[in-house]
Amino acid sequence: MPHAAITGWGMAVPDRVLSNADLERMVETTDEWIVSRTGIKERRIVGPEDSTTSLATAAARQALDRANLTSDDIDLIIVGTCTPDQFLVSQACLVQAELGGHAAAFDLSAACSGFVYALTTGSQFIQTGLYRRVLIIGADTLTRFVDYTDRSTCILFGDGAGAVVLEASTEQRGLLSTVLGADGAGYKHLYIPGWGAFVPESADLFPEYRPYLLMNGNEVFRFAVRVMGEAAVDAVAKAGLEFADIDMLIPHQANVRIIDAAARSLDLPREKVWVNLDRYGNTSAASIPIALCEAEAAGALHEGANVVLVAFGGGLSWAAGVIRWGVTGVCPRQEAVTAAMAASG
Ligand code: ACO
Repeated sequence: MPHAAITGWGMAVPDRVLSNADLERMVETTDEWIVSRTGIKERRIVGPEDSTTSLATAAARQALDRANLTSDDIDLIIVGTCTPDQFLVSQACLVQAELGGHAAAFDLSAACSGFVYALTTGSQFIQTGLYRRVLIIGADTLTRFVDYTDRSTCILFGDGAGAVVLEASTEQRGLLSTVLGADGAGYKHLYIPGWGAFVPESADLFPEYRPYLLMNGNEVFRFAVRVMGEAAVDAVAKAGLEFADIDMLIPHQANVRIIDAAARSLDLPREKVWVNLDRYGNTSAASIPIALCEAEAAGALHEGANVVLVAFGGGLSWAAGVIRWGVTGVCPRQEAVTAAMAASG
C-alpha cells in the first residue's frame, strides 16, 4: 500500500494586524487578561481585499512550488473550512479556478479540526491507490463572523490558510495513524446559528439567528482539554510509538492553557511543542498547517521526525494524527530521474 508523504507546504495570513491594544479600545478588556487567559497577543484579520479564496490560493501556490508541481499535476483538492466564500460552489472549486487544472475538488466541514480531517481523507485516496497527488488546504476567515462587541469571543480569532501537497511514497511517510471523533450533541457550545439554509418558523427567533459565532467558552475549554489529551495519546499508541519517539507536537492554536494540557498528556517538554498563537490567535482549520510551515522553516522538523497533530473545534469535533515528516520514497522523484536518464539515452 502506498503511503501519502507531505512533499510541499505553504501558508498565508492577511497583512492587517489586530493587537490586544486595539481590542482594549473596542471592548472592555485588557492585554493582561487576554495574554494570561489565552496566550494571544495579536492576530491577523482579513480586510476587503482578502477572502478565504485569496488566502487558500496563496498557501496552495507555495505548497505546489515547494513540491515542484503545478495544479495540473494534482488529482484532488480538499479544503477544510467552515467559512467558505460561498456555499455554491465549494471553496475547493473557487481555489481551483485560481490555480487552474481539473482535479476533483470538494470541501470538508469540521471547523478547527478540518485540516486533520482533510489530511486523513486525502491520505486515504493515495493509500487506496486511486490518486497520486492530493492538495490539502485548511483555510478560515472566522473574523467575518465575529461579533466585535462580544469580548468573550472577539479576542480569540484570526484568519489564515495553510496547505500541504501529498504524494504517493514507497516509504512510511505522512500519516501513520489517525483518531477522528465528534459529539454532535454539543454543537450549541460553539456555532454560527444564522448562516445556512435553515430559516426559523417564527420571525421572533430571527435575532437569535444572526450570522455571528456563539460560544460557551467554559464548556469548550473543558471539552478541549479532555479530547486533546485523549486523542493525542490514542494517536501515538495507534502509530505503534512511545511518547519518547515523538519529536514535535503541533496542536491546534486556540488557547495556550489547552495546549499545555495536551503536552502534559504526552509528557512532552515545552521545546517540543509548537506555539504561535501569540501572533495569529485561533485561525481555525488553518492553525495546524500554518504551525507546520513555521516549524519546518525554523528547522524543527527533520527527515523521519514523528510529529503529533491534534485539534478540536466546532461540531463538537476532534482529530489527531501522527505524521512522519520527509519525502523519502516519493515516486515522482524516481520517475523524474528515470525520465531524465531515458531522455539522455
Ligand atoms: N476581557 C476581560 N474579561 C473577560 C473577557 C475579556 N476579553 N472575556 C470574558 N471576561 C470575563 C467574564 O465575563 C468573566 O467575568 P465574571 O467572572 O465577572 O463573570 C471572567 O472574565 C471569567 O470568564 P471565563 O469565561 O470563566 O474565563 P476563562 O478563564 O474560562 O477564559 C476563554 C475564557 C478564554 C474563552 C476560555 O474559556 C477558552 O479559551 N475556551 C475555549 C474557547 C475556544 O478555544 N474556542 C475555539 C474553538 S475552535 C473552533 O472550532 C472555532
